[in-house]
Amino acid sequence: MEFKKPLQTLVIKGKKIAVPIIQGGMGVGVSLHPLASAVALEGGMGIVSSACLDRLVSKRTGKKFNTYQAAFEEVSLSKAAGGFAGINIMGALVHDFNDSVRGALDAGADAIISGAGLPLTLPAIQPPGDTALIPIVSSTRALDIICKKWEKLGYRPDAVVLEGPLAGGHLGFKMDQIELESNTLERLLPPVKELAIKYGDFPVIVAGGIYTHEDIIKFMKMGADGVQMGTRFLATEESSATSAYKNAVINAGADDIIVAHDPGSPCGLPFRVIKQSPMYVSALKRLRLPKCDKGYVLLKDSDGNFTVCPAKESNEHHFCICNGLLSSAGYNPDKEEPLYTVGTNAARVDRIVSVKSLFSELTGVTSSGQGL
Ligand SMILES: Cc1cc2nc3c(=O)[nH]c(=O)nc-3n(C[C@H](O)[C@H](O)[C@H](O)COP(=O)(O)O)c2cc1C
Ligand code: SF4
Repeated sequence: MEFKKPLQTLVIKGKKIAVPIIQGGMGVGVSLHPLASAVALEGGMGIVSSACLDRLVSKRTGKKFNTYQAAFEEVSLSKAAGGFAGINIMGALVHDFNDSVRGALDAGADAIISGAGLPLTLPAIQPPGDTALIPIVSSTRALDIICKKWEKLGYRPDAVVLEGPLAGGHLGFKMDQIELESNTLERLLPPVKELAIKYGDFPVIVAGGIYTHEDIIKFMKMGADGVQMGTRFLATEESSATSAYKNAVINAGADDIIVAHDPGSPCGLPFRVIKQSPMYVSALKRLRLPKCDKGYVLLKDSDGNFTVCPAKESNEHHFCICNGLLSSAGYNPDKEEPLYTVGTNAARVDRIVSVKSLFSELTGVTSSGQGL
């Protein structure tokens, strides 16, 4: 019998995460406390997504939760059964950013992971205490800018997530940079690791396209301290995606997965989707009339003023991402069509599994403690 190599522990801000796997935050409403707490219990780090959380928690509980309360609630529930859990807060959701951070900190999140924009002010919002502050970057340049800015605030990242171009959700690359050989995760890792060492040797966690135990070993041999994985957790029993979403993932082949840009996300970043997603198809056919009734996407102009979401006026070049993603999480499926975001590896997913069995596959350790 072939035994798999044991994975090394990941240490972030003094906390020892037995299995160096962070389950990536998946908004809207895909990674909520059922998934995050299951991952935490298996020895990884579970991450809820803050996107539209006030609406999702209010609907679930039948009580009105504001952004602060929803972040507090979801992080608390994720940590209740034990293990490490935190929250992903997207920089692009500027309106809710600070309240989500405060709620998560007050609930004792083990980590706040933040991307889709540079989280330049994150350490200044409230003293983080034991919570690790972890930016997501897709280049050394972005990490350098963050480290310099945070230094001025007297803070250093507790770790960094380096996300390559194969990831799900929004991508930190321009459309014409996504396929460049120089932007593969394998090529991006060494200089980012070097920079992390220069700024005090904090852990580097790689994300985007990691699928097997062997992938994890490969990147850890190259200098990564851990991995963040999204797509593999999307089709787990514990994920809060609708069954239709999970089935779309199972049925998707490589040709069905595209990077949408026109029509694309109103957040202004390339966004990977299953091309048959009903809201994407309708956007291509210009079928949806613009209607803004959620309002999470606000961008800032160069003077720092809030601008109108580009999908509010017209759906010709932008789909209504709030409603599309909320529908994929079962929030309003009778009113809005779903939009399915996935990583390229969705083409390899062929069944829904439990978090426990996914962890035994990825670590090579069965629940009896034996190597596979
Ligand atoms: C359904 C889905 C939703 C995602 N939502 C977010 C998000 O809200 N914020 C974020 O920073 N990353 C998001 N991501 C990216 C993941 O957290 C993760 O970094 C990425 O998917 C890793 O690549 P993989 O899917 O190949 O494992 C999302 C990914 C997926 C698949
Ligand atoms: S137009 Fe749609 S995507 Fe834009 S803020 Fe309004 S609800 Fe959200």
